Amino acid sequence: MEQPKSKPQPPNNSEGATPVTIRPAAAADLVSVLAIEHDSPSAAQWKNSDYAKALNEPTRLFLVAEEEADNRVIGFLVASTATEEWELENIAVSPAARRRGIGRALMNALIQQAQHRGALEIRQEVRVSNSAAQNLGRSAGFLPEGRRKGYYRNPREDALLFKYLTRTRQVRT
Ligand SMILES: CC(C)(COP(=O)(O)OP(=O)(O)OC[C@H]1O[C@@H](n2cnc3c(N)ncnc32)[C@H](O)[C@@H]1OP(=O)(O)O)[C@@H](O)C(=O)NCCC(=O)NCCS
Repeated sequence: MEQPKSKPQPPNNSEGATPVTIRPAAAADLVSVLAIEHDSPSAAQWKNSDYAKALNEPTRLFLVAEEEADNRVIGFLVASTATEEWELENIAVSPAARRRGIGRALMNALIQQAQHRGALEIRQEVRVSNSAAQNLGRSAGFLPEGRRKGYYRNPREDALLFKYLTRTRQVRT
């Protein structure tokens, strides 16, 4: 299904921020995606081939955030969309571009797609120590769901589970 481009909401502290476009990822973006992941140790660490595969899978949503001024890719998000329960698998923003609302813009685009395509919920697991990702999720409307003990390795750590209920789900229940 064609994924529409969307403009991020301006961040709260948007003074001087340059506009960004959220669009589906393409093969030419993979170098930037891997560089951002490399600079983001708390992101899920995937192989190049995993991202390449995700580009062509109909059951994955793979978005990038592109700086309009110079077309640089400065963030990305990958989600599994196989069932009515979507899962946010990875999200990262280039360290130099953080706290500009890019992460929230990617999350908003994910939520918009999930609503549009009839998903009931979006799940996310986050390391207990990753307060930036937890706060980003909360600010986008994700709710805490529980905790999975010792879920992560290197270092071993609990996962906090979050869930976003789409409008479809809210109407059904
Ligand atoms: C998590 C991440 C994607 C957030 O991206 P971002 O573009 O900086 O986020 P935004 O600017 O859109 O921030 C939105 C909200 O998230 C929260 N937030 C973002 N970064 C935060 C931080 N370092 N500390 C606390 N809260 C934070 C805030 O509530 C923020 O709203 P505010 O700026 O109005 O206070 C980014 O920090 C990142 O790439 N981290 C490394 C990768 C990672 O850990 N991914 C998650 C794997 S589960």
